[in-house]
Amino acid sequence: NPVEAFDLVVFGITGDLAHRKILPALCHRFSIGQIPKETRIIGVARGEKSKEQFHAEMAEALDKHLPKGRCDDQCVKDFLDCFHYVKLDVLGEDGWQELKDLLNERPNPVRAFYLSVAPSLFAEISVRLGKSGIATEGSRIVLEKPFGHDLQSAKDLNARLKSCFDECQIYRIDHYLGKETVQNLMALRFANALFEPLWNSQHIDHVQITVAETLGIAGRGGYYDHAGAMRDMVQNHMMQVMCLIAMEPPARFDADSVRDEKLKVIKALDPLDIRNTVRGQYRAGNGGGSYREEAENPDSMTESAVALKAAISNWRWSGVPFYLRTGKRLRAHVSEIMIKFKEPPHNIFEQSRPAEGNALILRLQPGEGITLMMTIKEPGSGGMRFLRVPLDMSFAETLGGRTGVLGNAYERLIMDVIRGDQTLFMRGDEAEAAWAWVDPVIAAWQESGERPQPYDALGSGPEAALALMHRDGREWREIE
Ligand code: BG6
Repeated sequence: NPVEAFDLVVFGITGDLAHRKILPALCHRFSIGQIPKETRIIGVARGEKSKEQFHAEMAEALDKHLPKGRCDDQCVKDFLDCFHYVKLDVLGEDGWQELKDLLNERPNPVRAFYLSVAPSLFAEISVRLGKSGIATEGSRIVLEKPFGHDLQSAKDLNARLKSCFDECQIYRIDHYLGKETVQNLMALRFANALFEPLWNSQHIDHVQITVAETLGIAGRGGYYDHAGAMRDMVQNHMMQVMCLIAMEPPARFDADSVRDEKLKVIKALDPLDIRNTVRGQYRAGNGGGSYREEAENPDSMTESAVALKAAISNWRWSGVPFYLRTGKRLRAHVSEIMIKFKEPPHNIFEQSRPAEGNALILRLQPGEGITLMMTIKEPGSGGMRFLRVPLDMSFAETLGGRTGVLGNAYERLIMDVIRGDQTLFMRGDEAEAAWAWVDPVIAAWQESGERPQPYDALGSGPEAALALMHRDGREWREIE
């Protein structure tokens, strides 16, 4: 459904995120008629640019990053008519009045500010938007991660934001929540009657969440070397996915009902024992260079991979470990969840045991789909022998062309901002609670003075991550 015309101010319009994600997302939604042509997209950056120059830059970015065939030339041209540029110095005085005048010229019903800038500028820009009256009562502000660097900085940022904006105006983006397959977790659990009765410690042995990447950190070392995998992936994307798997059914699918339930999961997490955590850093191997080279920091102690075992101490999950692992420069690019069910309670087959418990695998990307691993009788075998086979559902095959219109996760999230729906955004207290959980481990790692365990670039990750599982008599699912 089309939204009302809106004014979207993008701070950092010349940056990588704006070019790669925000512009293509908006252009696609414009091309399918969801964004009215009266909409204004106001790009803000420091450089001096003529309107023509700005439009040419935007056109170039779209040409580079919009998947081919998404919008034709005329559509891109019409889309660019929505664009305005304001040269503004976020820490100085220049440009603020001009931005205000432009916004007030013929204001659209919805006004939103997207802060696609260095996180160190979030607080300053928000406060200036508030104090100058550029942000009005109904305005929305969108912040990219990282939302703070630790609990204290997240609290400070929340406090500064809240001095000018109400929580219902603040949209903290975690782009994993915009992924169709992540949202599908909620459909799987709460729109089907089949799984929920089994979704507990009585039937589930353990849960694995994997986000493996083949890419390294080349070009992003400045940010990444200060963050590391725990801050970059675990505190946000992976914990959010864990919450969606573990939360109680919310009474309604609305922002606060869902976020209340996610927060309860984070609060029920046992403090992480450092012995249940592993951090790794890739070294050169399999033709790939080392983390330290890419980060241009020969002594870096930053982790590019993390594996950990989490425990959720509540009625539903007591005794069910959640194993999380993520890493850069691994052998495969795959994000998936595996729910491993318990063995049948009694084996009636004397000669052989069923292969292994059932497992439900939710493949988030790539090759999005759902697989249920089942045990069947091996055909033709004398007596009873068993095979473990997949019952497979691939989104691409089942939905055919319809998966092509899904676009990137930002499309859904940006449209939700305009519609005023916060369900897929992190609330301030959630972000703080997530920091409160990861902070002590990061501190303990630092205190230990130990170097993260080296693992081969494009290999299977740190040995100690395998040992973390073996200790419990379990195995990670192969990443492939
Ligand atoms: C980002 C992280 O938030 O998510 C990156 O900063 C990571 O380091 C990326 O590569 C992964 O996202 P996706 O959508 O490619 O799985």
